[in-house]
Amino acid sequence: TSIPHSEMMAGHEMASRLYHHILTLSEEGKIGLDYAKGRGFTKQQIEHFKIGFVPNRWDTLVTIFKKRNFNLPEMQKAGLLGQRDSDQQYYDRFRDRLMFPIWNHQGKVIAFSGRSIGDEKPKYLNSSDTPIFHKGQVLYAFHLARPAIRKSNAAVLFEGAVDVIAAWGAGVNQGIATLGTALTEEQAKSIRRNAEVVTICYDSDKAGVEAAVRAASILENAGCMVKVAVMPEGNDPDDFIKKFGAERFKNDVIGASLTLMAFKMRFLRKGKNLNHESERMLYIEEVLTEIATLSKAIERDHYLRQLSEEFQLSLEALKQEQYRIFREKK
Ligand code: GTP
Ligand code: MN
Ligand code: MN
Ligand code: MN
Ligand code: MN
Repeated sequence: TSIPHSEMMAGHEMASRLYHHILTLSEEGKIGLDYAKGRGFTKQQIEHFKIGFVPNRWDTLVTIFKKRNFNLPEMQKAGLLGQRDSDQQYYDRFRDRLMFPIWNHQGKVIAFSGRSIGDEKPKYLNSSDTPIFHKGQVLYAFHLARPAIRKSNAAVLFEGAVDVIAAWGAGVNQGIATLGTALTEEQAKSIRRNAEVVTICYDSDKAGVEAAVRAASILENAGCMVKVAVMPEGNDPDDFIKKFGAERFKNDVIGASLTLMAFKMRFLRKGKNLNHESERMLYIEEVLTEIATLSKAIERDHYLRQLSEEFQLSLEALKQEQYRIFREKK
């Protein structure tokens, strides 16, 4: 029913306002603000994404919830409080963290992602699933980005909240993110209902590349036209923007994003010396295998021709080879 849900949402709204107030206007929030500024967050970013800070105390929320007569067991179910075994006392689950509210697609706060401001582990503490928060259904900042996504018929998918916020600061305002989990079919469908093109802009590391390939196939199955942005190895979008600036991010990363096949080809090329015949043949075989998975004949034709031109091989030979690989795999 919607009655307990509404108190959980009210608790999140209250927490979000308090955290944001603490970060922006209080003495206690100063270390949080120093951290946020140190990361390059501007006032506009802090306001737009309602970033907050929770001090290193056990009772920031407990105190205000008691004062406002919130139902504490309900706030525990909502993921905001814990309860000590020894004496049944409630305590704040999030402490000493920069707090990112997570909204449902209607714009109601339903969860948080908290970034430790020091060496505290885990680096990110995210709300677990609750009756109002289902990780696999929600995309970070979806309601904020939706107008821009619809207008441009394109979304940009990031790994985390910080990358969305950095991209927005750089003028890319169609950014949304999963929060440390694999993209689900349901999330892909939400995106597809608002845009046809999706640019995946994950971290440029092994985990990011693998996750991008998986997300791409889920998005394609949902009917999206997928592109993949590429950055220098080891960077994530936030790093890139800080090092190289907004213009290069817009032009050389988002603007220059590759089709999924081009991205896979670039990936397969890595570490191979294509001047060596055996490595070249291996590469061609791998690309032929990928081309065979394309559902559209015109796309298969396009990439076969490209391969034929690059390596001076006849289309006929490539098709025969593809047929041989296909039969071997069966
Ligand atoms: P920064 O140092 O803040 O820039 O983080 P990062 O860029 O190293 O984050 P990373 O690429 O590792 O993570 C991307 C997303 O994964 C984050 O937004 C989180 O939602 C999630 N994530 C990262 N670390 C953790 C963690 O320790 N616990 C959980 N639950 N999620 C995490
Ligand atoms: Mn529910
Ligand atoms: Mn990462
Ligand atoms: Mn990252
Ligand atoms: Mn980062």
